[in-house]
Formats: sequence, structure tokens, C-alpha cells
Amino acid sequence: MFEVAYLCGMTRPIIIAIDGYSSCGKSTLAKALAKQLGYIYIDTGAMYRAVALYFLRNDVPFKPEERDPQAVAEALNRIQISFQLVNGVKTTFLNGENVEDEIRQMFVANHVSKVSTIPEVRRFLVHQQQEMGKGRGVVMDGRDIGTVVFPDAELKLFMTADPDIRTQRRWDELRSRGIKMSREEVKHNLLERDRIDSSREDSPLMQAADAIVIDNSHLSPGEQLKLALDYTRARMVHTQDS
Ligand code: DC
Repeated sequence: MFEVAYLCGMTRPIIIAIDGYSSCGKSTLAKALAKQLGYIYIDTGAMYRAVALYFLRNDVPFKPEERDPQAVAEALNRIQISFQLVNGVKTTFLNGENVEDEIRQMFVANHVSKVSTIPEVRRFLVHQQQEMGKGRGVVMDGRDIGTVVFPDAELKLFMTADPDIRTQRRWDELRSRGIKMSREEVKHNLLERDRIDSSREDSPLMQAADAIVIDNSHLSPGEQLKLALDYTRARMVHTQDS
């Protein structure tokens, strides 16, 4: 079996799309995979969160009952999102400000799914994501990467896990950041986001027909990485042959 590092040097860079439900470990896998492959990691959820933060801070009328498409469009014109390394860690910037911690807070999590139903927001971010990935050699995670952003991605993974296990992982993560919430609240937020993400009209969360499903309910981060590297190797060999 060829080593992935060897194959990376031998084959043209590919796009790896990772989609799936909230708190399924997509970003843990995407980061680890990108590191192993020397690829760029792009967290598209952070981009939706940054837009949601801007809307909340600036009272942009985005909720269905008050939505003003003109105000939304004007607000989007004032938003610039970038990723920069801070102490070696990929960090989200909104108009030059480090917002990495703030976009992970519950007040953003509670609104981001609604913001991400807005077609203008999706068009704005999908365009940027396509630009970021056009050189290929990226691992991108989100909800519509394999279906809308890069339908031609060479490898598509669709991640899922038991809701109680996801709740526990998310609760542990929030606690480690000093955010105290009940498990019920965390579970409610996860399931509500899944519901909105899966049922929206524009680019709903769904498994691409050619995606490989990974249920990581009982996999460690190391085990899921190994599995994904095996799929990557197979795709790289296939891409080289075709
Ligand atoms: O991956 P995350 O939990 O940080 O994503 C936050 C929200 O952004 C999620 O509830 C749905 C939305 N999202 C989306 O609609 N499309 C993407 N490609 C990524 C995220």
C-alpha cells in the first residue's frame, strides 16, 4: 500500500468534502486529514457563524418574520471573512477582528442555522468557498460541500453519530471552554440545528449520492482518521489512474 505522503507528491491534489450533522466530529477529522496530507483545511461552518455574529451585532433583520433582503445584501457587502494562523491555530477573522471564540458561543449557535437558510448568504459564502478551493488540495467541511460547493470533489465523506454521543461530546467541549449548559439544552440545540439544516429549501444538508458514510459513534479520532486516510489513498490511486 502506498503511503499517503508519497501519493500526495505523485498525484494531482484532490478535494475532500466532509459533510454531516452538527457535532459529528467533522472538523476534528478534517483538521487531522489536512495535516496528514499537507492540505488546506476550510471550516465553512465558521464562515456561517461569522455572518451570524455580524448580523446579531448589527441588528440586521434576518429572522423569517422580519427579513429585509436589501438590508441583508447591504450587510453582506460589509463583511469580510478570513482565516489566519494564530499561534499555529487556524483562526476565524471577521473584518480583521479575531472572532474565533465568540462564534462558538451559544448565542451564535442558536441563530446560525436560521442565518444559513438565507439564499443570499449561501450564494455569498459558496462563491468564496469555491474560490478558496479552486487550487484543490483542500479538506472542506460543512453541510453542502459534496452537493453544492464541490459536487466534483474526488472524495466525499458523510459523517453521522448517535445523538446522545454527539450531545456528550459537545457538552464536554463547551465545558472545556468554560461554558456551562445542561445536556438537555445542548441536545436541543443540536437537534434543532439538524432539523433546520436538513429541511431548508436552499442546499439542505443531505448525503451526496457518491458520498461514503462514516458513523463515528464508536470510533476514536485516531480510528476515524485511519479510515479516512484509507479512503483517501484509494481515491488518489484511482484519480491517478483515470
Ligand atoms: O459546522 P458548524 O456547526 O460550525 O456550522 C454552523 C451552522 O452553519 C450549521 O448549523 C449549518 C450552517 N452551515 C451550512 O448551512 N452550510 C455549511 N456548509 C456549513 C455550515
